[in-house]
Amino acid sequence: MIKYNEKNRLFKLSTADMTYAIKIAPGNYVAHVYFGKEIPDEDLTWLLRLDENPFTPETNARDKAVYMDTLPFEYPCLGTGDFREHAFSVLDKDGMSTVDLRYKSHIIYNGKPKLKGLPATFADENKAQTLEITCVDEYCGIEVVLIYSVIENYSSVIRSVRIKNNSTNPVNITRAMSMALQLDSDKYDMHTFYGSWARERHLERSKLHHGKQSIDSLRGESSHQHNPFFMLVSHTADEKQGEAYGFSLVYSGNFFAQAEVTQHSKTGVTMGINYVDFNWLLEEGEEFQTPEVVMVYSSSGIGNMSRTYHDLYRNHLIRSKFKNTRRPVLINNWEATYFDFNYEKLLNIARDASELGIEMLVMDDGWFGHRDSDNSSLGDWFVYEKKLSPGLPQLVSEVNKLGLKFGIWFEPEMISPDSELYKKHPEWAIQVKGRPLTLCREQYVLDYSQKEVRDYIYEMLRKILTSANIEYVKWDMNRQLTEAGSCFLRADRQREIWHRYVLGVYEMMERFTTDFPDILLENCSGGGARFDPGMLYYSPQIWCSDDTDAIERLKIQYGTSMCYPPSAIGAHVSDCPNHSCGRITPFETRGHVAMSGTFGYELDTTRISENDRQMIKEQIKQYKKYCHLIINGDQYRLGNVFSDISYDAWLFISKDKTQALLTYVQVLAKANERSKRIKLDGLNPDWYYKNDVNDLVLSGSALMNGGFNFENLWGDFKSKQVYFTRVEK
Ligand code: GLA
Repeated sequence: MIKYNEKNRLFKLSTADMTYAIKIAPGNYVAHVYFGKEIPDEDLTWLLRLDENPFTPETNARDKAVYMDTLPFEYPCLGTGDFREHAFSVLDKDGMSTVDLRYKSHIIYNGKPKLKGLPATFADENKAQTLEITCVDEYCGIEVVLIYSVIENYSSVIRSVRIKNNSTNPVNITRAMSMALQLDSDKYDMHTFYGSWARERHLERSKLHHGKQSIDSLRGESSHQHNPFFMLVSHTADEKQGEAYGFSLVYSGNFFAQAEVTQHSKTGVTMGINYVDFNWLLEEGEEFQTPEVVMVYSSSGIGNMSRTYHDLYRNHLIRSKFKNTRRPVLINNWEATYFDFNYEKLLNIARDASELGIEMLVMDDGWFGHRDSDNSSLGDWFVYEKKLSPGLPQLVSEVNKLGLKFGIWFEPEMISPDSELYKKHPEWAIQVKGRPLTLCREQYVLDYSQKEVRDYIYEMLRKILTSANIEYVKWDMNRQLTEAGSCFLRADRQREIWHRYVLGVYEMMERFTTDFPDILLENCSGGGARFDPGMLYYSPQIWCSDDTDAIERLKIQYGTSMCYPPSAIGAHVSDCPNHSCGRITPFETRGHVAMSGTFGYELDTTRISENDRQMIKEQIKQYKKYCHLIINGDQYRLGNVFSDISYDAWLFISKDKTQALLTYVQVLAKANERSKRIKLDGLNPDWYYKNDVNDLVLSGSALMNGGFNFENLWGDFKSKQVYFTRVEK
């Protein structure tokens, strides 16, 4: 999979149908040669145009600056003539920021390394290979190791960087991106995923233009506003054809991602931890590891790129034992009661839910300290006796007796000013000494850079989790970081707080998943503000959005599915009019949309119509029948709600292509339109499939080229599911 040609000084990484090539170019600079469809063994040096370029240092030292500003560097640095976006910069002992990295050595080995303190993709030793290229700056003694891994059968290259200070002087890293590369053209559209609270991951597609176009987060989390994922695709690319490059950062904090079209109409790509407000002091002998970027290439459209990410993340990122299995159908009390619940109310919900076939009760926010609203008690992780008397163990045991599992909500990274913890330890809040703290949802953020703080919170969590038979945890994070500073860090390490905070969160989650491997963990952040690969390493599912309206969810889940597998998308059926936007949608449609994620309920079942109650039983049956396709199958997006909001459709197909589940949502009905025909995808064209709506037996070819007719669904927001199975003809 990874080869080095000594004569040409060329590395070639090839898997599935992709090739990635790197060359040690004149001057010992590490240059990007190629990333795209597989090119079988041959020398690709010519792609660098070195012969045409009269400016290589050997041939024209007089104009080396031109060489520096045009060579496509794998890891461009600041200061020696490359004026494009740089990936790396330092402040050395002399206060200088110039870095000059030159190739020193490399190794190729089987397997893929773990990244210290960071989530990362993994693979068996015989299924992956890794290349490490070591570069050095002789003057300031910095060593930079460029790490590239490939995993068998995935058109993907996974990159990160390890930096070491080999000098006897401290060096400040002021920027350390996880990757950079330069594509040889600018004929791409950039897709980014923007949003806000309750409107996450809305897709935006725009043509690249000269100059820089970037997305980022400076909020301390990956954020509602932008996701640490973007794509570059050829102008005409769609779900089924065209080139697509995906860039996905396995990180949950501040990030930066950019495409820059240069003076010569090439496209530079940079991605990593946001360099704004970042500084990392590296003492003699110390190392810094960047998070990794998972790059995926597809020569056959965006759909194929998404399916590569889905498989890669399901098989090589998510570790939870639940990842390939059906999760219990849960009912969460948040939208049913908000803070207004007690022992009896919860038991009533559980009682009713058990009759309907629901399998788990999740007690959301409001069970601890003296929390009756969002204005207190974060940090006081002990039971609010007034609400839960005769106690949590008793409640859990009663719920269990009803045949339901029990889950619980925490927000472990937070502290309320009105809490016992804050009275004892105001210095544990993230803050800048001498400045007022900015409130958000009437709470502050705990200083997770500090082990003492983490240990204290963890111990409280542990006590609760071992006090009763708790089988699920929803780990929430409901505000962004402001006044990012620590009462404990030295002045010259204060700018490390953003990253140290994220490392602290990862350490807590690592501890949690190690100690409680049998508890199903769902991440959440004010809905979907931390829907990122970093979180998937710890939890097999993430709450996708606080917007539970089925129609709004079409866009949110469509955007999320570009990179993340449906098996990870937390989705619930909730009440109507919907709490986020007031829309009324049929119960059936709400079920079909939630079923395309992890599936559960978030409403008071005693307050809905008998008809809808009966439908819950039906939906659970359907979900149990189809969930293996949703959890482990391939997804094909057949509509695009961003370009045509009149309908949406998507398909899940089993890996062996013998079964498929088609979901169609008619968003707005049209008069005098009798039916809608949807062309399927991904089936075996030569096989025959029977559907459960009209029992027609049609070939895969007929279904993919002709389509399936949905008869007129009367009214807006209606939906239909069709199940196909292979039959012999
Ligand atoms: C966040 C979550 C919700 C709910 C509330 C509780 O907003 O996204 O699902 O848990 O917090 O405060």
